[in-house]
Amino acid sequence: MEFPLTRPLLKAEIHCHIEGAATPVLAASQAGKYGVDTTDFLRDGAYVWNDFSEFLVCYDRVAALFRTDADYALLTESYLTELAEANTIYSEIIVSPDHGDRIGLGADAYLSGICEGIRRAHEKTGIEARIIVTGERHFGPGRVIAAAEYAARSQNPLVTGFNMAGEERMGRVADYARAFDIARDAGLGLTIHAGEVCGPFSVIDALDLVRPSRLGHGVRAVEDPQLVARLRDLGTVLEVCPGSNIALNVYPDFHHHPLRRLHQAGVRVCLNSDDPPFFHTSLEREYEIASSVMGFSVAEINTMTSTAIEAAFVDEATRQRLL
Ligand code: HPA
Ligand code: ZN
Repeated sequence: MEFPLTRPLLKAEIHCHIEGAATPVLAASQAGKYGVDTTDFLRDGAYVWNDFSEFLVCYDRVAALFRTDADYALLTESYLTELAEANTIYSEIIVSPDHGDRIGLGADAYLSGICEGIRRAHEKTGIEARIIVTGERHFGPGRVIAAAEYAARSQNPLVTGFNMAGEERMGRVADYARAFDIARDAGLGLTIHAGEVCGPFSVIDALDLVRPSRLGHGVRAVEDPQLVARLRDLGTVLEVCPGSNIALNVYPDFHHHPLRRLHQAGVRVCLNSDDPPFFHTSLEREYEIASSVMGFSVAEINTMTSTAIEAAFVDEATRQRLL
């Protein structure tokens, strides 16, 4: 009797920042093209930063190497093609119009370059992708509200969600709540970075003031058992990025990471790569570590993939096709 070939695990992610997906090789090539000296943030083929604040600065420096819609199309196509080669069927890309504005490209050309990259990758590989517009918290409430307004009026069918990323320690969620009201009124899905750099209070604020269906990270909720129960009862999906948490020193190693405890407590979780080359990871590596280091079974990993698709900001017909 012939044994059936084992089907490789399908993967999906709903939390990856587009500039954060730029490999050092691509960044170096962009720097060569524009004559930018990168020695203070890119050395020996790796990004250079030591803590979260320095990471955010490094991120902005790398973002500034992408200056045209064609640059963004190339970046997006490269990232999605690599994902598809690792059997990924769906990705939600976090994009920040502010980064397009900052380089003088403008938000519309920024977005259209990213859409072109999605189109090309989809045509080549079949991978589905959607776009989450984000405000960067450290750019201030005015910019985050402007990002929400931009997303709300975009009418772009690939723009399906709104997020807030950036420096979690800056201000309180209340300062930014209006941005989420605008995005909610426009029918966009809502997610927000919380509970990574800051503790449970940041998750409580996010739940109370934003009412998101998902949280970016949210892992530090584990420090508050009542909050864990609230997340379980609400069915809030945590976009967990273990490699990011280790790289940023939130936990000393994968054995101390709370993914297993959250899953065990009935909280809905999925695996994501966040800013893969910055954190020396990839979605494939996140899946491998969940299996080989954290001890998740194939069935549990498949459940996390299904959770990502169930929580995706995508139309029902596409969701049903992917599930
Ligand atoms: N975390 C928070 N903010 C960000 C990130 C991140 O990984 N990437 C870009 N902005
Ligand atoms: Zn993130």
